[in-house]
Amino acid sequence: TLTAVIMAGGKGERFWPKSRTRLPKQFLNIAGQKSMIQLTVERLEKLLDISKVFIVTNDMYAELLRIQIPHLPVENIIIEPVGRDTAPCIGLASLIIEERYPDSTMVVLPSDHIIDHKEQFANVIETAASWAKKGPYLVTLGITPTYPETGYGYIQSSGQKEEHIGLEIHRVEKFVEKPDKATAEKYLANGNFYWNSGIFVWRTSVIRQYLKELLPPVHDVLETIKSEAKRAGQITEEIIRSEFKKMPSQSIDYGVMEKAKHIFVIPYDYGWDDVGNWTALERLNDTDEQGNVIKGDNIINVDTKNCIIEGNGKLIATLGIEDLIVIDTEDVTLVCTKDKAQDIKKLLKELREHK
Ligand code: GDD
Ligand code: MG
Repeated sequence: TLTAVIMAGGKGERFWPKSRTRLPKQFLNIAGQKSMIQLTVERLEKLLDISKVFIVTNDMYAELLRIQIPHLPVENIIIEPVGRDTAPCIGLASLIIEERYPDSTMVVLPSDHIIDHKEQFANVIETAASWAKKGPYLVTLGITPTYPETGYGYIQSSGQKEEHIGLEIHRVEKFVEKPDKATAEKYLANGNFYWNSGIFVWRTSVIRQYLKELLPPVHDVLETIKSEAKRAGQITEEIIRSEFKKMPSQSIDYGVMEKAKHIFVIPYDYGWDDVGNWTALERLNDTDEQGNVIKGDNIINVDTKNCIIEGNGKLIATLGIEDLIVIDTEDVTLVCTKDKAQDIKKLLKELREHK
């Protein structure tokens, strides 16, 4: 069986002030008519039934999920009592899925990416799943890098590749999460590297084995949950509430991918964007002649170049500005240079400390 896990616990802070703790980015229509999580589910439904889609999130977002994806069975919503990053999230999901669909191959995906070409996507995932069934393999989707982004993982192909159902699958030499700028530049120049799309395919039993070898503290808690569940008849909310917090915080990328052996990458070049911060709007929207992205009505610009401006009804007037992001919401207005868009978290930290 093919199953899917959507990780939807992120706070989307780099899209503040539109993305708020109570309504983060994955639930917003940043590109298009639907929210990013709705689009993620829609993409998966080309491949599998909604009963096989699981979403891992926290208490705060469970209600939003029920509203935005009303046809998702409630028992497929997995609630983490605390955020422990992606390794525990994936570990817990694999346990719960095994209970319902023993021996399944799971696709793990973020909730907040833009991916074009639904058909191609379905096709690549099917090929990845078919490959993952063959062994203790961790299959990734790799994006051809275009600039030295330091917020992504980099996957080096060993050059050793095979054709499987019409697609190229490369054995991976190494996986490096978020390298520094100089290293990212080196990788880009090398030409043998892909960006990690953050989408993974593997068998539930395989990822559990890797967690056992590489992240014993995560594995131990999973084993406790399993034995408690045996006693209770199933994995209950109470068990999760008392045990999950004992997990260390660790991402799957640092915790497993950087150390695992049998990693494969399938190049994916049909349109992918992780919509990481406000500057993504330039890639996802048309710009005017001055290079501005303007969203909303009642915005007047004179001698304004290469800016990203989103209004909320109130008149916004700009004169002579360049390379700025201006985002107006009901209670907050953000003005920020584009080169600082990645650092909005710093601003939020400051805000929290002084409020
Ligand atoms: N449920 C849950 N719980 N979800 C989580 C948690 C958690 O504790 N932490 C993160 N997530 C979700 C986020 O909402 C997002 O959809 C996904 O997991 C990935 O987490 P990010 O925090 O966005 O990771 P990243 O962007 O720094 O890096 C990852 O994605 C890049 C591509 O976008 C890595 O996999 C990189 O290697 C990759 O290049
Ligand atoms: Mg991300």
